[in-house]
Amino acid sequence: CAAAALVVRHRMKSSGKWARALSILKEFEEKCGTPSSNLKQVADAMTVEMHAGLASEGGSKLKMIISYVHNLPTGDEKGLFYALDLGGTNFRVLRVHLGGKESRVVKQEFEEVSIPAHLMTGSSDELFDYIASALAKFVATESDSQHVSPGRQRELGFTFSFPVRQTSISSGTLIKWTKGFSVEDTVGQDVVGELTKAIERAGLDMRVAVLVNDTVGTLAGGRYNNPDVAAAVILGTGTNAAYVEHAHAIPKWHGLLPKSGEMVINMEWGNFRSSNLPLTEYDQALDAGSLNPGEQIFEKMISGMYLGEIVRRVLCKMAEEAAIFGDTVPPKLKIPFILRTPNTSAMHHDTSPDLKVVATKLKDILEISNTSLKLRKLIVEVCDIVATRGARLSAAGIVGILKKLGRDTVKDGEKQKSVVALDGGLYEHYTKFRTCMENTLWELLGEEASENIAVEHSMDGSGIGAALLAASHSQYIEVEEP
Ligand code: GLC
Repeated sequence: CAAAALVVRHRMKSSGKWARALSILKEFEEKCGTPSSNLKQVADAMTVEMHAGLASEGGSKLKMIISYVHNLPTGDEKGLFYALDLGGTNFRVLRVHLGGKESRVVKQEFEEVSIPAHLMTGSSDELFDYIASALAKFVATESDSQHVSPGRQRELGFTFSFPVRQTSISSGTLIKWTKGFSVEDTVGQDVVGELTKAIERAGLDMRVAVLVNDTVGTLAGGRYNNPDVAAAVILGTGTNAAYVEHAHAIPKWHGLLPKSGEMVINMEWGNFRSSNLPLTEYDQALDAGSLNPGEQIFEKMISGMYLGEIVRRVLCKMAEEAAIFGDTVPPKLKIPFILRTPNTSAMHHDTSPDLKVVATKLKDILEISNTSLKLRKLIVEVCDIVATRGARLSAAGIVGILKKLGRDTVKDGEKQKSVVALDGGLYEHYTKFRTCMENTLWELLGEEASENIAVEHSMDGSGIGAALLAASHSQYIEVEEP
């Protein structure tokens, strides 16, 4: 009899705990809600901030950085060019042989190198020396046929995916680091100067011809393949967008109006913030504990660096307050950033009837075993809420850009196509995120406008784009053969 009472009490206790877990989930879901009406306000707020950022320097949380790119690739680019793509825990070095209109990209080779964690928070010289020496090693693999013409210096397009105040097409000072980098002595420095000094120290003869953000590189790479590309968005470790603006619509630009009448703007939309964003206590805590509190709020709700960490924080609360993993909180679950977005993505995509992938991830990463199917389902729900919110917010951001360009509606049966080039690991590998983002775009734009708008995956466009821009900004003028 006593044993039976104990069982009943245990059941009541665990059903009470389960009810608490469900109420945490429900509250989280409500707070993360992104109904269309709200997303439209987010898009409007994005458009308003774009105007403000273009009006004056510091006029908005959106920096709306003038990239100095006013001619996008045409297909005529020719020659052998290098690119260096630095923006996350890996960087890539590329060698691209461009063959002009007829042959396009004749050959491209690249190598990917990971950056040791200590260099992400060390000194500027150490970081750039490491990069330059990898570049020198890569250059050394040039075959005889790949040498640039005699007497000609190698030229490089530098994709540097952090906020930089550009001072010319080939120079710019670092405003701040994002995405977990914190190399204090680079802030305020010309990053091309830092790279050039390191290239010299590595004994390499190479000129940095252009400095571009990855969004700008992706836009250039996208435009090379499709003349309708008007904007580019990165959904990866971080998130950001660039687009082609009318030069006369940039009040803060006091230079000569470019002949093309256009200027590419690097929005740095990761720093967007608005009262319409569905922020939760978990986002606030994540932000407070981050390397850059108060900054990159949009990025912290959307991008790959943070989605897994938001999920971890929600599970932590459920473990603490609803004992979902037993009486104690699993120690591993308390470690910030232990749950990476590729893992939450794998759990989210688990289609096995008993959610085997979820069980394996919990065991391998968090050392949690013996979870019930009910609990695994709950965890998948948390992943779904986090990814859905991020995907829908990024769609709202894209709508904001299309609105700014007046391309979100069809005017007088106009048939101008607008293509948005997308890239980044989140977009490429997180299928549910990508599908949700695209569906939300069509939901917000409506059927008619959607016919003129397309999204395209611009694979590895940022590196190629930088090489293409290096070609069009080469110090050597191509002389046409008589
Ligand atoms: C971060 C950087 C931005 C970059 C984006 C995507 O938001 O600040 O410059 O474009 O990540 O890599």
